[in-house]
Amino acid sequence: MQVLGYEVDAINSVQFSNHTQYPHIGGQILKCGELKELVNGLRNNGLLCKYSHLLTGYIGDPSFLQETVAVVKELKALNPHLVYVCDPVMGDHGRFYTSETLLPVYRDEVLPVADIVVPNQFEIECLTGKKIASVCDAVNAMKVVHDKGPHTVIITSTELGDTDNLLMIASHRKGDGSFVRFQQKIPVQDAVFVGTGDLFASLLLAWSEKADIKEACSKVISTMQHVLTRTLKAAKELAGEGNKPNCMQLELQLIQSIRDIETPTTPVPSAED
Ligand code: ATP
Ligand code: MG
Ligand code: NA
Ligand code: MG
Repeated sequence: MQVLGYEVDAINSVQFSNHTQYPHIGGQILKCGELKELVNGLRNNGLLCKYSHLLTGYIGDPSFLQETVAVVKELKALNPHLVYVCDPVMGDHGRFYTSETLLPVYRDEVLPVADIVVPNQFEIECLTGKKIASVCDAVNAMKVVHDKGPHTVIITSTELGDTDNLLMIASHRKGDGSFVRFQQKIPVQDAVFVGTGDLFASLLLAWSEKADIKEACSKVISTMQHVLTRTLKAAKELAGEGNKPNCMQLELQLIQSIRDIETPTTPVPSAED
């Protein structure tokens, strides 16, 4: 987001030594009261009115998530144009990796104040209570989410592609109430990356301000592909011929990809609308 021109104030909801796929983790989890203290500091200086966007990702605790909703409401009262981008991080591939107690909070309290949501397939299935087995199911699930508030819903990946591709599916409600829907194929890279959801959400926030939703998604996917291709190539070199890259070798090559973040050039072929 900084590379794309945004001044970012980050609140680390966790400060960990490393991501959670490593065998050991050291660090701290920010408590709900500590979030309140930070927001108080901003409030007391009259700084809460300066925000244009809020982005949330992994949150481990329902009370922290509820406090986040209070912050969104306050920011929106101060700036009605504030855009809240929510990545409702709960799980993937059919299972929760957070507490299931987050689900009703995301569904009933967060969605009504969110503008853009970027769930994966599992997360939108949880939020809507609908299994997705076809693009038609996905469209219906996105409608359910729109009805709760958000004008833009992007399922960042689904298993509805083919063996070589993931499928991203997006739905955007325009100012006149009509909908733009589209899909984009994403060539599958043969590795499990960590941090891709965060990268997607932050790039999408940045581009959604500068381009229409379809062009924004193309730029996001283009950058993602460059980052992941570079990351996998480096990981394979580090692992050596015939060895499977480990966590450390698969750390996203973000700064090495700064030009692909600034200028995502390659047009990405999009699936039929
Ligand atoms: P995370 O596990 O980081 O929370 P997520 O499950 O929320 O991610 P995904 O939809 O899995 O989100 O991934 C986000 C984006 O990352 C996808 O839209 C895609 O562009 C890219 N991506 C992730 N993994 C791969 C992969 N193996 N091959 C190609 N692209 C990938
Ligand atoms: Mg995923
Ligand atoms: Na996602
Ligand atoms: Mg995610």
